[in-house]
Amino acid sequence: MIDHATVQKILDTARIEDVVSDFVTLKRRGVNLIGLCPFHNEKTPSFTVSPAKNICHCFGCGKGGSPVNFIMEHESLSYADALRYLAKKYGIQIVEKELTKEELDKRSDRENMFAMNAFALKYFTNSLLNTDEGRNIGLAYFRERGFTDATIQKFQLGYCPDKFEAVSVAALKSGYSRKYLIDTGLCTENQKGGLTDRFRGRVMFPVHTISGQVVAFGGRVLKKAENVGKYVNSPESEIYHKSNELYGLYFAKNAIQKNDVCYLVEGYADVISMHQAGVENVVASSGTSLTTGQIRLIHRFTSNIVVLYDGDSAGIKASIRGINMLLEEGMNVEVVLLPDGEDPDSFARSQDSTKFIEYINTHKTNFISFKTSLLLEEAGNDPIKKAALIGDIVDSIAVISDKIQQAIYIKECAVRFSMREEVLVQEVAKRQKTVAEQPKPTSGGIEKATIESSQSQSRPVTFKEERQLIKYVLRYGRDLIDINSNGNNIEISVLEYIAGSIEADDMPLRYPIHIQILEEALTCNSDLRSYFLNHPDMEIQNYAFSLTEDKYEKSALYVTEESESAHKVRMSGEVQTIMFEYRFAIIKERCALVKKSIEEATASGNNEKVDELLRELHSLNTSRTQISALLGGRK
Ligand code: CTP
Ligand code: MN
Repeated sequence: MIDHATVQKILDTARIEDVVSDFVTLKRRGVNLIGLCPFHNEKTPSFTVSPAKNICHCFGCGKGGSPVNFIMEHESLSYADALRYLAKKYGIQIVEKELTKEELDKRSDRENMFAMNAFALKYFTNSLLNTDEGRNIGLAYFRERGFTDATIQKFQLGYCPDKFEAVSVAALKSGYSRKYLIDTGLCTENQKGGLTDRFRGRVMFPVHTISGQVVAFGGRVLKKAENVGKYVNSPESEIYHKSNELYGLYFAKNAIQKNDVCYLVEGYADVISMHQAGVENVVASSGTSLTTGQIRLIHRFTSNIVVLYDGDSAGIKASIRGINMLLEEGMNVEVVLLPDGEDPDSFARSQDSTKFIEYINTHKTNFISFKTSLLLEEAGNDPIKKAALIGDIVDSIAVISDKIQQAIYIKECAVRFSMREEVLVQEVAKRQKTVAEQPKPTSGGIEKATIESSQSQSRPVTFKEERQLIKYVLRYGRDLIDINSNGNNIEISVLEYIAGSIEADDMPLRYPIHIQILEEALTCNSDLRSYFLNHPDMEIQNYAFSLTEDKYEKSALYVTEESESAHKVRMSGEVQTIMFEYRFAIIKERCALVKKSIEEATASGNNEKVDELLRELHSLNTSRTQISALLGGRK
């Protein structure tokens, strides 16, 4: 339980831009910041962070909200745990009473699994540093590999005692349940129904999520033994999806943002040694080929990736096929081949960071040329192999969406193969056509979705005008304006004026979301903007965000300078205008409907009906002309 005052303090302290930039690189755009959305797949940024409003919003998928909403969504946490996360981030003390058994039971499986791993982490680091077995075996091993104490501490390396049930006994004694020992994979169930530690006798590498929670462990054997794998890893679980995690990203993300490049290596040891050498923008795919999910994680922080290969790596050829994926995701991919016999781990231990980076920068080649050289070497003079190779390269070039980049690669490729550029251009175009023919998932913004869903019912054409009214309700609902009513000046709020006019003219709103916002606004007692921006219904919250977020606000420039009385005058004018615009749109729509009915009535010879409709049309036209005059002669 967190007390109310602390909750308020957390809400007041958390800055959306800080919170989001732990997960996404943000760039300034006007008053806002933008980045790639962490909630859906996109190659161009539409995730907007508004420091002024302290909220974020994705115009592609509609997700976002306050700092707490963001953490809840991103980390799949409950409201209370999202608050705890933020408190930790900002060093706010939470005095909590011990969880009761009931509260413990209520925690979700995910939360219990994270708690289980947190316990195991402590257990393993303690075994490494504070037990004889751990120090003599585990710590001695790490030191032999050249890891310093600071490095061991930073990566929270540990040791699992060489017993069948060390972890399980300790965990059960501390009140953790058997279920989560099994679910996290720390233990397996043996034939007798007991528990066996998975990692016994191994040094431990915890795998952190992007926010630093431990989702899994890798345990390495110390001695070369036959028929046991060098590494044993936590199994896939509710909290651990291997294809969505990258080893080291938690420690690397700041350096990746700062240097605007990410180095990709294969193993735990490579990441750790590079860090120790001072190169911190590095992550590992952990031996498997890179997945799209992992690429997107990197892409949140940078578009530039440099893949480091061992000089003699046999896996290069297999892995370069996977690199098309990086290109498809819009990454700039470069490749570095390390000197013969070196892997990133050994190379980092023999260099300082300046030399290491210098080597990378002088040896990196773009992926296309790297692939070309590699395959050319393989193909030799065999024309059939060469043709296949060209096809392979063209495949890679075709997935690059940046046209300029693509043109450069085509040129380079033409030179390398002594081919005419046009031929390559044609080949690339052919492939792009096949790609384009595949159906793509559509991603529609909220506005589009709302129009479409409402159109299927009555197809009103006044969406834009309704939206405009609601926008004024949200932004200026409480501002006072002067209205001339039968010669008397009356002062009313923008909200009252809009709601009252709609009622009086009998021209009700027709879009459900607008109707709901207007109704709630009339009963709300607090600030309208923040009421809707924190609305429990995410659809409303998102919609409110899109309305308070207006790139085209005409008067934004002088608003800050404006006096209260000038504001009142301007508001009075603007609000009456948008009300006229709404009426005008509705009348136009009604005119069109009446005209159509007249045609139908004429065709069926119903003269009485035609007369009646003509009278209606006449009166509509009169109103239309009046309003049109007020709107400066609009047609
Ligand atoms: N790996 C694994 N299981 C194995 C071998 C490797 O999961 N049996 C994964 C680990 O994530 C490892 C990565 O593949 O980090 C790369 O393998 P390797 O280069 O062999 O491991 P290093 O981390 O470099 O370990 P070391 O230098 O201690 O051999
Ligand atoms: Mn290695």
